[in-house]
Amino acid sequence: MKIFLIGFMGSGKTTLGRKLASRLGYEFIDLDHKLEQQVELSIAEYFQIFGEDAFRKLESEVLKKTLYPDNAIISTGGGLPCYFDNMDWMKANGKSVYIKLSPKTLADRLETGKEERPLLQDKHGDALVDFIEQKLGEREKFYSQANIIVDGLSLTAEKLEQVIAVS
Ligand code: S3P
Repeated sequence: MKIFLIGFMGSGKTTLGRKLASRLGYEFIDLDHKLEQQVELSIAEYFQIFGEDAFRKLESEVLKKTLYPDNAIISTGGGLPCYFDNMDWMKANGKSVYIKLSPKTLADRLETGKEERPLLQDKHGDALVDFIEQKLGEREKFYSQANIIVDGLSLTAEKLEQVIAVS
């Protein structure tokens, strides 16, 4: 089974995905990392040089052209489900799981580690919460199309495994 983990930046897709893959004996694939390897640039550098539109096209291409093993946990960039037909593509090719968290919790988690996230680089405190509230508001309609929606607060790989098993 291919399981696509989706959700806002800071929702734990990569950390939980890696742990879940190891529990299940599945391969773990981080699409942001794949993209960085392909272009030999960090995402921040790619954004700076080529801009967001080019990034969105490339991340969609990486999603669709990656060769996935039968069993894989795939972590996706926070914006990926919201562009082109990416959400439909993931649902047609596997199961999608939305790890859902509130803007406040996301902001607390994102206050550190913003340097590598070009959309957040210049935002702090209340401005960061406002930005997340607005972006999440725009993105929720895509995220909520996921096959499974799971509360990301105190979520562990074990719990995630159980939720997926019964869905
Ligand atoms: C983005 C999320 C990032 C990365 C890029 C854009 C977004 O991935 O793809 O910085 O638009 O939300 P993470 O969700 O893994 O941080």
